[in-house]
Amino acid sequence: MAATTSMVACLLPGGRLPRIGFSICHAQYATFEGFPKNLNINVKGESMRNWMNIAVLLFTLFAVQAANAAPDAATCLNCHGSMEGSVNVNQEKFAKSVHGSFDCVMCHMALKGAQHQGLSGGAPDKAVLSLANGLTTKSKIDPMAQAACVNCHPDIYQAYKTSVHGQNVMVKKSSDGPVCTSCHGSPHYIQPKTSRESAVNHFNIVQTCGSCHEEKMMAEKYGFSPQVMERYKESFHGRKLKVGHSGAPSCADCHGAHDIRSDKDPASPVVGANKVATCGKCHSGATPKFVAAITHKAPHPIAHYTEIALIILTVSVFVFICVHVLLSIYAEIRDRLFKKGGSHE
Ligand code: HEC
Ligand code: HEC
Ligand code: HEC
Ligand code: HEC
Ligand code: HEC
Ligand code: HEC
Ligand code: HEC
Repeated sequence: MAATTSMVACLLPGGRLPRIGFSICHAQYATFEGFPKNLNINVKGESMRNWMNIAVLLFTLFAVQAANAAPDAATCLNCHGSMEGSVNVNQEKFAKSVHGSFDCVMCHMALKGAQHQGLSGGAPDKAVLSLANGLTTKSKIDPMAQAACVNCHPDIYQAYKTSVHGQNVMVKKSSDGPVCTSCHGSPHYIQPKTSRESAVNHFNIVQTCGSCHEEKMMAEKYGFSPQVMERYKESFHGRKLKVGHSGAPSCADCHGAHDIRSDKDPASPVVGANKVATCGKCHSGATPKFVAAITHKAPHPIAHYTEIALIILTVSVFVFICVHVLLSIYAEIRDRLFKKGGSHE
């Protein structure tokens, strides 16, 4: 296997080798164990043996080409497993991911560059191609791979396409909105959502959405309240989630995940009458009055001062009761002392 892969690397003058042509490959082959050592590409001599060697080489070439029809992950990792920087793919982490048993070309269906000559998967179908076209502003390296998710997660892609996020990327052609991997993290190391390592684990969602929604620039550009995150975090729900209450709602419990809509869209689960059902998932018997309790908006000044007034009232009642209790304890003690003293007389 190793030998075959090395031949691939050589014959597809790839990896970090520039395209140097046949002779260098031949020279490399010659160093391979078991490969004819006296093979000479400058077939000047009439030696029969050289011709036979060439036949062997051509045969190997053919076999290697056939093997290239569906390169497996090991073929790619041979280079990418040891490359530096963003093009590195950690073999161990990849193997442990939900897609760890896949060949890389199931997503990377069409690779560019001389180093990848002959290394491609099946031809992408229309759905993938048209999606890939829609994603080019956001997914610059391999939009085809980003679009490949639709092959196996078609319902999710359908929801995403109509969401405020999908529209932002695919219709507005903006690079601000999220694609699948913006929320799910590196495409190579995706974990099931039940894992604490997943970017969309219940307890990690706030941070994942926050990576954009906490950005002032985004809030200004799209006109949503810059206090969304802050208000959520200081809410009863946010605080409960932070201390590990698995029943407390994260962003996705109220907004959904793939079909998120603007609060100007009547289909949004957080507008108007829809709120009753959304809150009702956890608060059975939620009424329109109850559901008005939760919002990301800064409280109205009147509500704000009412809240402060309520706090002052509560505190003063508490202080009053404490003083009252202390005074009566004092009175009790004084009474008893007085009585005791009285009996001695
Ligand atoms: C012979 C070594 C080699 C093999 C084998 C190889 N690659 Fe690459 N790959 C490279 C090099 C070199 C680059 C360019 C890196 C750079 O630009 O810094 C690259 C870049 C890429 C990129 C980024 C594309 C871009 O334009 O920046 C992707 C995606 C990729 N490879 C996927 C694969 C997949 C999938 C396979 C297996 C089917 C594979 N590679 C096999 C050497 C290889
Ligand atoms: C589940 C689909 C999927 C699988 C499987 C997959 N990739 Fe990727 N890969 C992607 C996506 C999506 C991107 C990002 C493309 C973009 O941003 O335009 C990517 C990006 C890359 C890049 C470029 C990274 C960068 O930042 O420059 C390399 C290199 C790469 N993949 C190699 C591999 C190798 C090697 C394998 C197999 C071990 C593999 N991929 C398996 C989906 C996948
Ligand atoms: C805005 C962020 C976001 C984007 C964009 C996104 N996802 Fe998700 N995804 C989530 C969240 C959050 C969950 C967890 C939902 C839950 O716990 O109910 C999730 C769950 C999933 C699941 C697990 C099954 C399920 O339905 O719960 C799959 C599979 C998935 N996403 C695939 C995708 C694909 C494919 C795309 C691209 C079309 C994508 N996601 C885009 C946030 C996102
Ligand atoms: C060749 C088919 C295939 C492709 C392509 C593919 N997936 Fe998956 N994906 C699966 C399978 C199979 C599972 C594991 C079974 C499951 O949980 O649904 C999975 C699981 C997942 C999960 C975890 C679901 C969970 O349990 O929480 C996410 C998230 C996900 N995929 C996202 C993506 C994204 C994003 C892409 C594109 C970059 C993609 N997938 C491409 C087949 C695929
Ligand atoms: C308990 C339910 C609930 C949770 C949890 C929740 N939201 Fe909201 N969200 C709402 C409601 C209701 C609205 C409608 C507008 C309003 O009342 O603020 C809204 C509106 C929004 C808006 C639009 C605001 C605007 O000014 O246009 C954004 C963006 C948003 N939420 C993001 C998030 C993010 C990010 C999280 C997680 C950190 C989150 N939400 C958690 C209920 C929730
Ligand atoms: C990559 C950045 C990014 C991520 C990650 C992201 N969003 Fe957004 N979100 C945006 C942008 C940009 C918009 C504005 C889209 C538009 O109006 O064109 C938006 C819009 C929204 C809106 C509608 C706001 C309105 O106008 O009413 C809601 C709600 C929302 N996002 C919730 C979420 C939630 C919940 C998550 C996490 C599951 C999330 N977003 C993850 C970038 C992001
Ligand atoms: C995913 C489940 C879930 C959703 C959805 C949800 N909540 Fe909650 N909510 C909780 C939990 C859990 C608590 C904490 C209860 C406790 O510990 O007593 C809570 C507490 C509250 C409280 C404070 C305590 C109380 O019961 O009076 C209010 C008010 C509240 N939620 C309103 C809302 C509103 C309004 C919505 C819809 C916009 C909503 N919730 C959506 C789970 C949820």
